[in-house]
Amino acid sequence: MAQADVYTTGHSPNPCNLVLIGFMGTGKSTVSDYFHTQYNMDVIEMDQIIAQREGMSITEIFNRYGEEYFRDLETALLIEMQSRKGVILSCGGGVPMRERNVAEMKKIGRVILLTADPQTILERLKEDHSRPLLENNKNIDFVRSLMDSRRAKYEAAADIIIHTDGKTVEEIGNEILEKV
Ligand code: S3P
Repeated sequence: MAQADVYTTGHSPNPCNLVLIGFMGTGKSTVSDYFHTQYNMDVIEMDQIIAQREGMSITEIFNRYGEEYFRDLETALLIEMQSRKGVILSCGGGVPMRERNVAEMKKIGRVILLTADPQTILERLKEDHSRPLLENNKNIDFVRSLMDSRRAKYEAAADIIIHTDGKTVEEIGNEILEKV
């Protein structure tokens, strides 16, 4: 897709949606913000919407209701987003683990997988306490093994794969535009 095709001047005018997937800390939110600023695309940050609607943080949702409850909210939100246009959808890291979710995200737009090395992930998230799966697990072995266990599903869901290590958000944004 040419750069001009994603440049938007009004509210949600672009029919081409981007769906960002990837492990925690691969930069989905940063890249979404970049597309919002540069191309006026609406950002749908799944975690943020779920937390707002439930009136509690993702960690609290996990603690009170368990992971499956949270996963069901993710699936319901994806289904709800089908009619949106001109958006960049930033999916929580676990979203592509469900086959149903992958089918839904493919209907929404081009699926872009962001990747990063475990060391980069740890560096980016060392001060973060909002990810229940990483709390008390911030070590290279845990991150590598969770990443390895998810890799096949991430790659199967992706239309495009972008490695983010050592790249600026502009470089990542441009690479996405070249490849979509
Ligand atoms: C999760 C990733 C998080 C959030 C939740 C679970 C995961 O989103 O949905 O903590 O299973 O990988 P980010 O990928 O935006 O951090």
